Amino acid sequence: MKERMTAQRLKTLKGQEPLVWLTAYDFTQAQLAEEAGIDVILVGDSAGTTVMGYDSTLPVTLNDMVYHAKLVRRGAPNTMMAVDLPFLTYTSAEQALQSAGRLMQEALADAVKLEGGRRVMNAVDALISHDIPIIGHLGLTPQSVHAMGGYRVQARTHDSIRHLVDDAQALADHGVAALVLEGIPDRVAAYVTEQVPVPTIGIGAGNQTDGQVLVFHDCLGLSSCYPKFAKPFADVRRVMLSALEQYGSEVRSRAFPDDDHSYHVTDKEWDAFWSQEQTR
Ligand code: KIV
Repeated sequence: MKERMTAQRLKTLKGQEPLVWLTAYDFTQAQLAEEAGIDVILVGDSAGTTVMGYDSTLPVTLNDMVYHAKLVRRGAPNTMMAVDLPFLTYTSAEQALQSAGRLMQEALADAVKLEGGRRVMNAVDALISHDIPIIGHLGLTPQSVHAMGGYRVQARTHDSIRHLVDDAQALADHGVAALVLEGIPDRVAAYVTEQVPVPTIGIGAGNQTDGQVLVFHDCLGLSSCYPKFAKPFADVRRVMLSALEQYGSEVRSRAFPDDDHSYHVTDKEWDAFWSQEQTR
């Protein structure tokens, strides 16, 4: 069996074979991810859009994340599981500890992920000093959708590139185990990757990061629309839709269930029942 990934081991894999991360939100998805040999499962607050039907991650609560992480843990007991701290659950050191504590104790997370750089350093320091492994997240950080004015590619000006590089260095200095880089130009991500001693995991950040992460639904072609960077590796939505249409049509025509998908009683038992029934 493959060696289980840990936050400590992640750091030692910097610059080696690219790391494969995938989000998952339930038992079946987690089972598939584990069976496919995914290195790290991220229970992302993208659950808000992929499985809860919101149009952003902002309504996602800590209870939601605990619930989804528990499902994933059961499906993938042997895979490292990082779980997102949702919006406004790490605004102070104390709150971050309480929130991360729930994810670690109730859902058995191996690490928590939070969005932001130096502005969330109080939370980062509190978690690290209590031995809670952290994944940082910079660039297009969906919890800041309003501040960014939409889901826009970040770090496209020299000042914002500098800011991002300094944030990445600060997070690495303060002990994050890895850094997700989302929605930034490829050469900015490549430069950050060169500069920091921890693995960078890209999503919409080119192919020079130390690994990649994709949202489960985007990876399998289950989503109804895709960002530019997402490549569906199958068309599972089409497969599912055609199976559901076929189901509907076979029920309506009484082709389903057929003999093979029905239970039967012997003629003997049925005849005995029937003669009893006639004498009642
Ligand atoms: O919530 C999420 O799924 C994420 C990934 C897109 C990195 O943060």
